Amino acid sequence: MSDADDQAFDIELKLLVDAIFLRYHYDFRGYAQASLKRRLTVARDRFGCRSLSQLQDKVLHDPATFPALLDYLTVQVSEMFRDPAYFLALREKIVPLLRTYPSLKFWVAGCSTGEEVYSLAILLREEGLLSRSLIYATDINSHALAKAEAGVFEIDRIPGFTENHRRSGARSSLSDYYTAAYGRAVFDKSLRKHIVFSDHSLATDSVFAEVQLVSCRNVLIYFNRELQDRAVGLFHEALCRKGFLGIGSKESLRFSRHAGSFVDRVREDRIYQKADQP
Ligand SMILES: C[S@@+](CC[C@H](N)C(=O)[O-])C[C@H]1O[C@@H](n2cnc3c(N)ncnc32)[C@H](O)[C@@H]1O
Repeated sequence: MSDADDQAFDIELKLLVDAIFLRYHYDFRGYAQASLKRRLTVARDRFGCRSLSQLQDKVLHDPATFPALLDYLTVQVSEMFRDPAYFLALREKIVPLLRTYPSLKFWVAGCSTGEEVYSLAILLREEGLLSRSLIYATDINSHALAKAEAGVFEIDRIPGFTENHRRSGARSSLSDYYTAAYGRAVFDKSLRKHIVFSDHSLATDSVFAEVQLVSCRNVLIYFNRELQDRAVGLFHEALCRKGFLGIGSKESLRFSRHAGSFVDRVREDRIYQKADQP
């Protein structure tokens, strides 16, 4: 691409993102530019458009385009017990503190297709806490949320999930929580009874509950600094006194406007605790 083409692409990207916000109220204006560019380039080609302006025309005038485009704008990569060390740290270092609460609320923000939230539910069941827990699982992608709610995963992913689960300090076998049928693993409905799935955007929505722990992993990485600050501000507001925040292994609060409002709890696994205000 020449510099002029590059500049035109950037202008068209800005206009497309503005159009999406004005028409559908999904706000991608604060997303990290480099990955948004990559994803929109793929979408432009996939929708058979010559330019992002042409894609914008489709988005505005063809009602089927935006829901399909949303799958390109958001990244749905996930796995159960992703980064097992994070779940091991939750189990060993955070669960003992959570035990002191008579009832517990959790918020898995950006839950995608549900792998993280089922992992948390299984961990809580293993630790004897699920019966007094409620987990809010939120995302902006309704396709992903529907999949999460169904709790059905392709069977060929199960060996990887099982190994992650084992490395997270499992106290039971993952096979205790699903039934295999027709190439799919259907997770136990009794886990779902403790989960509320809901559409919620970290870019535009506000806090809806007080929780003891927020787990928002591999989501902030797609946001620019300002939007990261907004999201971390929401988490801070949602957390009870001395509540916990877990983020992804490639994410950090170090440069956040809210860095001073949290203390490291398990530094290597990116688990923070809300600081007492002076
Ligand atoms: C890579 S997945 C992370 C899934 C899971 N947390 C994990 O670590 O495996 C990122 C998720 O963030 C969601 N997401 C993107 N923007 C969001 C926003 N503004 N508010 C809430 N979720 C968002 C995407 O739809 C996607 O499901």
